[in-house]
Amino acid sequence: MNNTKPTAGKPVQITIDGKTYECPSFSGTENEKAFDIGKLRDQSGYVTFDNGYANSSPTTSSVTYLDGDNGILRYRGYPIEQLAEHASFIEVAWLLIYGELPTQNQLNQFHADLEANSVVDEKFIKLMDAFPKNAHPMAVLTAATVGLSTVYQNECDPGNKEHTEKSIRRLIGQFPSLCAAAYRHNHGDKLVPGKKGVDYCENFMHLMYSKDGSYTVPKEIVKALNLLLILHADHEQNCSTSTVRLVGSSSANLYASIAAGITALWGPLHGGANQAVMEMLEHIQKDGGDIEKTIAAAKDKNSNFRLMGFGHRVYKNFDPRAKLIKKACDNVLTSLGVKNPLLDLAKKLEEAALKDPYFVEKKLYPNVDFYSGIIYSALNIPTEMFTPMFALGRLPGWIAQWKEMVDGGTTKIGRPRQIYTGYTARNFKPVSERG
Ligand code: ACO
Repeated sequence: MNNTKPTAGKPVQITIDGKTYECPSFSGTENEKAFDIGKLRDQSGYVTFDNGYANSSPTTSSVTYLDGDNGILRYRGYPIEQLAEHASFIEVAWLLIYGELPTQNQLNQFHADLEANSVVDEKFIKLMDAFPKNAHPMAVLTAATVGLSTVYQNECDPGNKEHTEKSIRRLIGQFPSLCAAAYRHNHGDKLVPGKKGVDYCENFMHLMYSKDGSYTVPKEIVKALNLLLILHADHEQNCSTSTVRLVGSSSANLYASIAAGITALWGPLHGGANQAVMEMLEHIQKDGGDIEKTIAAAKDKNSNFRLMGFGHRVYKNFDPRAKLIKKACDNVLTSLGVKNPLLDLAKKLEEAALKDPYFVEKKLYPNVDFYSGIIYSALNIPTEMFTPMFALGRLPGWIAQWKEMVDGGTTKIGRPRQIYTGYTARNFKPVSERG
């Protein structure tokens, strides 16, 4: 597996209060440069302050390369555009986790392993039944994912490679059923057994919608879902992946680490944006479709409203995933014969934002979530399931990043510093003396 060690560079000198300190520097295979401030506090008494980790990399990684200025995204060196066109989601999952595209034998074996590990323990169905009928599927999915560690608690030691391989197959094998069970729970339906010998995406749609086993999944739907899952499969050190790594850095098991990633994904500033975009578009439509009013509200700092599906911490040019999804949106709706006025609304909104100096100056472009919901809707997937769909796609990326960290064996426990701004020392007062 390609996992080149960083190349050492000249030490970087930092002068603080007239004294110069040397920090080791290094660069990665794409010539991204870094210097290591790990010892700076001990030497100088200073920590670095970096709100939201905007300019900090807590790890090196050989999984995914992202160049936000030039709109480049590659998994293990392969451009996302090529994978989106030629690969299956399961091939991409293998690539991310094991570092190379699978041979036919490896792929067949992986499919067989996932099928063999796909049956969800009956206890989970009972666990899901205990949640309110209108429970958000992301909450149910989180509970079920961490719950897997109770069923396999003797086989989830992160230091044991055999346990890890089993956990990987159990997670990827059972995740479609867990997502579908969360959806079916909302509709009062029981989970159906998975379909054997079919594509992962086809089986997922069967698990979601089949009532009596006779449901045939249209090829266009399988193709569209495959594309969406591939485009969501990894995105280097984003909020949920960093959460998975942070939790995993304490030697928590894979199920617990992934469950933490699911909760981080849920927020509307991250993966929950796909649901928020759809709700925003529906709201604008109901409100008379006033694009100018929407843009004005997004620019108004007192309004608390942001244009959902716009902007990205790293992409300051365009998000290559959004480009592919926008194109797929037109194709999918045409091939399924679906007309969705929200697509036209989204296009008009994008056009207006991209002409507006506020969005231009701040380099705010549509991100992966801006158009994905319109495709999910065309596939009949309800809005509250959009973020679980993101989790289904992101699962291999989370696993790959966790495994890279654990296999590397050099990661320290994640433990940031802070600058304390509270009270200085004061004495306790009994309640009778408190004003
Ligand atoms: N609408 C309006 N203004 C925005 C938007 C937006 N969508 N995004 C950023 N801005 C503005 C901010 O108000 C800020 O303005 P200021 O400099 O005048 O204060 C400036 O642009 C920079 O924004 P930050 O929030 O500092 O940028 P950050 O990198 O921290 O946030 C984020 C990135 C969270 C994605 C942000 O752009 C956002 O909230 N977008 C909407 C939610 C969304 O679509 N999230 C999905 C991201 S993709 C993913 O996670 C899968």
